[in-house]
Amino acid sequence: MTDNVVVLDSSVEEALNFNGLRLLAVADSQEARASIVNYLAGFEGVEHELLSLSEFEQNGVAVHAEIPDVLVLEVRDEKDAALHVEAIRAEPELELLHICLLMKSPTKNAIVNLLRSGVDDVLSLTPNEIELSGSLARSAALRTVGGDRATANRRRTIVFLHASGGAGATTLAVNSAVQLQKTAKKFGGNACLIDLDLQFGDADLQLDLPIRSNLVNLMKAPDRLDFRMLENLMVAGPDGLHVLTAPDEPLPLDAIEKSTIENVLSLARRHHRYVVIDMPITLTSWTDSVLKCADHIFLVTQVNVLALRSARRLVDTLQEENLGEIPITAIANRYPSKGQGRKISIAEAEKMLRIPIKSQFPSDFCLLINSSDQGVPAIMQQPTSKYSKTIDALLDGVATTARSKKKQGFGMSFFKRGGLDV
Ligand SMILES: Nc1ncnc2c1ncn2[C@@H]1O[C@H](COP(=O)(O)OP(=O)(O)OP(=O)(O)O)[C@@H](O)[C@H]1O
Ligand SMILES: [Mg+2]
Repeated sequence: MTDNVVVLDSSVEEALNFNGLRLLAVADSQEARASIVNYLAGFEGVEHELLSLSEFEQNGVAVHAEIPDVLVLEVRDEKDAALHVEAIRAEPELELLHICLLMKSPTKNAIVNLLRSGVDDVLSLTPNEIELSGSLARSAALRTVGGDRATANRRRTIVFLHASGGAGATTLAVNSAVQLQKTAKKFGGNACLIDLDLQFGDADLQLDLPIRSNLVNLMKAPDRLDFRMLENLMVAGPDGLHVLTAPDEPLPLDAIEKSTIENVLSLARRHHRYVVIDMPITLTSWTDSVLKCADHIFLVTQVNVLALRSARRLVDTLQEENLGEIPITAIANRYPSKGQGRKISIAEAEKMLRIPIKSQFPSDFCLLINSSDQGVPAIMQQPTSKYSKTIDALLDGVATTARSKKKQGFGMSFFKRGGLDV
């Protein structure tokens, strides 16, 4: 064994599998480059490449047409770091890239801000093997959760909206989350359900959860929010589904600040393969933040004149708010089959709504009332019912299509550079 070989506690070593982990290191200073070269050589199974900052800015993140799993990046200061991270995270393909920054004497505040902005680790300029191995271990663990890149790219955020009371949005959100948890488990990972109906949310009842999330803690100390706190707030649902429930006592909808909601979603999206969000009927100061991060937005409505009119108003309002590009479609719930008193056709409803209707769910009073009385979602109670099969079909589409995100940041693209085809 040479001095460079990283010696890990055997239990840690067993838990880690760095095999095939691809790491791109970018550093200009002699000290940072020396640390990287010295220590990375000791990590068995890690393929690494070291670039200067100017080479990096020319090549982008993709080295030899491959996106690495980890980027170790030397930055001058917090501002420099924030610019790089913003540009990297604006690329949907780099959402899962583990970013580890090397920074000279970062303040505690800077570390907190950077972690919030999507950085995974902030290390000193000359990290030792323990620091580096800790960071790689976190990346390796995330990689196990995320599986291969193709399946990792199937991460989705799905939002359920409704414009008239009792449309069936929560029931659909709950059933979808339960079903997506099953899918997530196949790939290794989890789904979570976030009930943002802070006043009257009842997803917990539909799942018969024993307790509710203590959102008052979040409201009082939003600065403490990190992934661990979020996980502690979540309640375990069926099959390992993570559920952030509405609080015990109804909260004013603006009791939790927009920035806190944004942080909750950002953490949830980074750590869960599927994030399902049930929204309140009322528009709030944070509605746009939720909709902007969604891959699919389903507006649940019944097909009658009153319900369609409310749904249409909501669509108009969202479009007026400059949210015209959001991936919104409608779901016709309790849609009668032919001969059951159907008055308005789907084509007519689509014309009124001015958005497509993606799915039609039958009315199944018996199944749904039993399901909510017993706290066992329909998809678990009767997986072969028409209602459950329609959920399956809806979610099949969800797993294969993602929203194409608009580029943000300051015009750098860290995904494709110099004709590299990834
Ligand atoms: N397809 C359906 N067939 C029969 N009953 C349904 C159907 N979908 C939902 N329901 C029932 O309608 C009621 C309202 O559903 P849900 O709570 O999901 O609506 P919501 O849109 O979330 O309403 P809220 O405004 O209260 O948030 C529930 O009792 C539910 O069991
Ligand atoms: Mg509801």
